[in-house]
Amino acid sequence: MSSHLNHAVIGCGRVAPNHLDAFTAVPDTSVTWACDRDLAAARALAAGTGIRVTTDLAEVLADPEVTSVSVVVDHAQHAEIASAALRAGKHVLVEKPLAMTVAEGADLVALAERSDRVLSTVSQHRYDPVVLAVREWLAAGLLGDLVSGSVTLQCGRTEDYYRDSYWRGTWRGEGGSALVNQGYHALDVVDWLCGGLSVVGAATGTTALREVMETEDTLAAVLRGTSGTLVTYSVTVATAVPWRTRITLIGTAGTVVFDLDHPGTLHFVEGGPDLLARAEELRGRVIEEPPAGIGYYGVSHRLQVADFCAAVRHRRPMLADAAAGLGTLRLLRELYEVSGSHVAV
Ligand SMILES: NC(=O)c1ccc[n+]([C@@H]2O[C@H](COP(=O)([O-])OP(=O)(O)OC[C@H]3O[C@@H](n4cnc5c(N)ncnc54)[C@H](O)[C@@H]3O)[C@@H](O)[C@H]2O)c1
Repeated sequence: MSSHLNHAVIGCGRVAPNHLDAFTAVPDTSVTWACDRDLAAARALAAGTGIRVTTDLAEVLADPEVTSVSVVVDHAQHAEIASAALRAGKHVLVEKPLAMTVAEGADLVALAERSDRVLSTVSQHRYDPVVLAVREWLAAGLLGDLVSGSVTLQCGRTEDYYRDSYWRGTWRGEGGSALVNQGYHALDVVDWLCGGLSVVGAATGTTALREVMETEDTLAAVLRGTSGTLVTYSVTVATAVPWRTRITLIGTAGTVVFDLDHPGTLHFVEGGPDLLARAEELRGRVIEEPPAGIGYYGVSHRLQVADFCAAVRHRRPMLADAAAGLGTLRLLRELYEVSGSHVAV
């Protein structure tokens, strides 16, 4: 097989430009198909690029030149499309969440293993320089033992955002809202940094946006790490602020406060001289790339896509591998269950 990778983007909506941008940036890699059941959306994504467009997923999967696909559609179809692509021998990068249910997600992970294909769920913020730095500091013991944490995401989604979408704000199409969609990344990153969390308690509410959604616009929870770390987690999509995260991690030897905004920023650090020196070094780094598409998605799609292509080429493990996507899916489904919210089928 030639080492050139040909990639197809399935679903050409809001976040698809990030996939096109990121795969185009990888050497020896081309995006060759834009597929959307709405031809106008596929054409809009492909405009000026020479990329072929289609409304027919089967046409893309039957193309032997296609090595990999991005699944960038509503949550309800992730499992079905990812599974069809794996069965067609393609490597798969699926937007978050991996699937609607843990059972579907586990089936996908097993299928990828059996077919010897790379499967990864988009967790671009795991690749943010500030997140990678905090992970290194934790691993080096610079924060001591983690005892406490807090995670907040406030973001603003208008009534039209839900009203104009065929899937958002519905249990059937989105499988939840504030948590599974906007809150996904903060949960994913903190679960990863804390080495795995489980749910102590959770509650959901639908307040300001109740006219336009059947799912939650707000969720608050308490989570616990394996060695006892207690983390409060809250997300709401019903504010005037487009996007603001704050993550505080408190250890016996140090504290950090950072965000998953763009670019990710370290706001506060307290601890020993080694931690302070590393924080200074991080603050000195500049992220120059402009993000593709919507700014608050950040630039780290490029980093994850480069990791994905390297995994396809060299069969090396990814930072955000198939198990990572399944782990986060398990935690967020547990949050919905504990909160007593409708569990999507
Ligand atoms: N990683 C991130 O930061 C980030 C940001 C936004 C969205 N997302 C995720 O990306 C996914 C898509 O979100 P979006 O905001 O781009 O949605 P969107 O509604 O804007 O776009 C979805 C597109 O998929 C198309 N589609 C639906 N079914 C199809 C099918 N069977 N075949 C081909 N095309 C089909 C629709 O016509 C639509 O154009 C979701 O999983 C969402 O959670 C991730």
